[in-house]
Amino acid sequence: MNRVYFIGAGPGDPSLLTLKGASLLAQCQAVFAPEPFEETFVELLRGKTVRIPFDFYFDELLEKIEELLIEGNVAFLVPGDLTFYAPFQALIDVLGDRSEAVPGVGTVNAASAYLKKTLDLPGACNRAVITSPRILEEEKGAPALRDLAAPGVTLLLYMNHLPLPQLAEQLRAGYGGNVPIAIAHRLGLPGQEVVTGSLDDIVDRVGDRDFFNLENKNRRPALTLVIVGETLTATVGKAWWDDRRDKIWKYRS
Ligand SMILES: C[S@@+](CC[C@H](N)C(=O)[O-])C[C@H]1O[C@@H](n2cnc3c(N)ncnc32)[C@H](O)[C@@H]1O
Repeated sequence: MNRVYFIGAGPGDPSLLTLKGASLLAQCQAVFAPEPFEETFVELLRGKTVRIPFDFYFDELLEKIEELLIEGNVAFLVPGDLTFYAPFQALIDVLGDRSEAVPGVGTVNAASAYLKKTLDLPGACNRAVITSPRILEEEKGAPALRDLAAPGVTLLLYMNHLPLPQLAEQLRAGYGGNVPIAIAHRLGLPGQEVVTGSLDDIVDRVGDRDFFNLENKNRRPALTLVIVGETLTATVGKAWWDDRRDKIWKYRS
């Protein structure tokens, strides 16, 4: 039975594709790739027929997939991977056993590696919350962003749609003051820019760069991840290591 593979393609840099993802992609002649993967994955897509999934309404897309499945396996390149905010769940649900999801490097993993920071550093932070200001606003009854921001929380914000001054103000209200923030734009892609600072100075540091695509006619969410929290600037050393060793890593005597 031919299958549709939803391959976690990472933030956009093809060198972050897993070996399994690369091997399955190589077996598929028909590929659906959201922008900008058709460009950044051009070497791996050579000789294949590449379509942009968002050019289709759902029924047309399903019809096209059914047609392609008669000929062979079909691949979807999933930005990051399926874990958070993936757009393809409706297809996976309809395809059922004829679909397979392949994990990949999420944007949040790429951001952590770029910043060289673990996002839940015991002592500086005790939890990480993944959310999207846009989704919080759309969903009736969802908590406000300021209710999720609190000392000890690392916030990972996808698809932000708020102007930066407004975002910083809401975060300051939740954290009860100034905390570090990083804005990671187009990670692993041409035009990558990462701006770090604090809630008090990030607006000045970013200046007039439109990292959230607020001035563009294209309404698609920008390829920008916001990370907020004390872990971004906290440093730990010998005492932290020895304490963790005593509490967790050392065999019980
Ligand atoms: C539809 S979600 C896809 C998330 C994806 N499933 C993941 O695991 O990273 C799109 C959002 O992911 C983030 N994103 C995706 N690719 C990115 C990149 N290369 N650099 C920074 N943020 C990115 C942005 O917040 C963007 O608005």
